[in-house]
Amino acid sequence: MIRARFLTLAVLVTACDKAPSAEGLGIWTPADHGQSTNPMQAPISSANAHGSLSAGELASITWQQQCVTCHGADGRGHTPTGSALKAPDFASAAWQKAATEPAMAQAIREGKGKMPKFDLPAPVVSALVTHVRALGKP
Ligand code: HEC
Repeated sequence: MIRARFLTLAVLVTACDKAPSAEGLGIWTPADHGQSTNPMQAPISSANAHGSLSAGELASITWQQQCVTCHGADGRGHTPTGSALKAPDFASAAWQKAATEPAMAQAIREGKGKMPKFDLPAPVVSALVTHVRALGKP
């Protein structure tokens, strides 16, 4: 992560005709250090500040942080909130058969019934849909 950042700076500096200056580089704070934040606890934007996580990794963090409370790690919706809101059982063959990828993606992006919407990048939404599909495979 750090290396990628220095590479970017090197490119910027080389691309500039004027002498390199520290202006605009900002002051280093512990928050700038990729290793100091736990990606499982940090918000997506800061976990990915250096563009180092793939869509799949972001989806898996998002699933743990935002979806499991209702859908459960196994996707069956057997959590207190999931039961109260009647979250569907993603492990059910009947549910999987009726569900379509576009409808799942739409539910994630725009919300559906009691499910809130999630403003996530398209590749992350798509990886979440793949994850929900995989939960239906025995
Ligand atoms: C507050 C509880 C809650 C949270 C948090 C939540 N969901 Fe849901 N989700 C629901 C409920 C309830 C439904 C059923 C909606 C309906 O059919 O009315 C649902 C439905 C869905 C569906 C099925 C949509 C369809 O095709 O019918 C998908 C896929 C889904 N959720 C994925 C996610 C993902 C991914 C996340 C995390 C980014 C998430 N959910 C977070 C409660 C939640």
